Amino acid sequence: MTVVADRLSSARAQFDPAPGLAYLDAATYGLPPKPTVAALDRALHRWQAGTADWVEEWDREGEACRALFATLIGGAADEVALLPTVSVGVGLVAASLPAGTEVVVPDDEFTSVLFPLLAAEQGRGVVVRTAPFAGLAEAIRPETGLVAFSLVRSQDGRTAPLGAIVEAAARQGAWVLVDATHATPFVPVHPHLDRIDYLICHGYKHLLCPRGVAFLRVRRERWETLTPWFANWRAGSPLYGRSVGGPLTLAPTAARFDVSLAWHAWAGARPALELLVAWQRDGALEDVLALSRRLADGLGAPAPTSSIVVVRAADAEAAEAALAAAGIKCAARGGNIRLAPHVYNTPDDIDRAIEAAARLLA
Ligand SMILES: Cc1ncc(COP(=O)(O)O)c(C=O)c1O
Repeated sequence: MTVVADRLSSARAQFDPAPGLAYLDAATYGLPPKPTVAALDRALHRWQAGTADWVEEWDREGEACRALFATLIGGAADEVALLPTVSVGVGLVAASLPAGTEVVVPDDEFTSVLFPLLAAEQGRGVVVRTAPFAGLAEAIRPETGLVAFSLVRSQDGRTAPLGAIVEAAARQGAWVLVDATHATPFVPVHPHLDRIDYLICHGYKHLLCPRGVAFLRVRRERWETLTPWFANWRAGSPLYGRSVGGPLTLAPTAARFDVSLAWHAWAGARPALELLVAWQRDGALEDVLALSRRLADGLGAPAPTSSIVVVRAADAEAAEAALAAAGIKCAARGGNIRLAPHVYNTPDDIDRAIEAAARLLA
């Protein structure tokens, strides 16, 4: 117990939330650690002064982030591409699907996953079929070409049965696209990584990065079948080697799918990802899951399957506002109150949230 407290208290020292605020809303946006704020501050000031070396100080930070994200998911850096958003990754995959491909998605899938596929249905003859979230594995059939889903759902924190889905997809010959935005770094994907064709993750929530830092992990067997529609100077080979004229010479790795970077965001992302890798190694992330279980227990909510805890509320928007007034920051989603702890939360934050919810949700 002492060890747990020590691990989280040293992690917590890296953050600076407003005094009195129990910030339990990493599922909306995660709080940046102090080194991320310092890196952004430095980047902005050196930009203002005109003294920055854009390659070494900003652009190359993306390479460090690529390797750090690979470590977090238990994958290889050369399979990771750097993107600005999730929908860009899904759109890239959608644009490469042959006409007539059947894509299975869960009901009520997040629009950044669903909409690019619906656009491909409208524009290119892809066929999107929806299925109940809990029955996704059973919905995959021989004519299915791709199954695409959020591993952890934003509206209720439910976690898809990844093992059963990749198993069914392999059996039926379908490819798998996972949005791990609400899963990584708390829900492991590495046991199934060799059966996930595309894994996409935005960093501004549970990865504590600035917005605009997202990742697309493309299984190496898919590098040649995915068309690099967004090819640009940064996706070229060698990196920084050429910025005008053909031919098309792209990186030999998944870096060919990079979208050129919104620099400062990546400079801010690096320290956050470095800390997450350290917390993953020393077990502090497990301690966050223990906070989530304690929160769910106290709220009488279902046992969490990720870091996210969800409790029903008669009027979720009113409950969100009342909790905010009590210094508890969480979010109303789909008729639920959604709470998402992280390393910056204290057991006291959790107990305050339980006490306030008991009073305000009764
Ligand atoms: C499941 C999921 N995926 C992705 C995103 C972010 O999407 P985008 O990167 O397209 O802004 C969110 C944001 O709430 C989300 O809940």
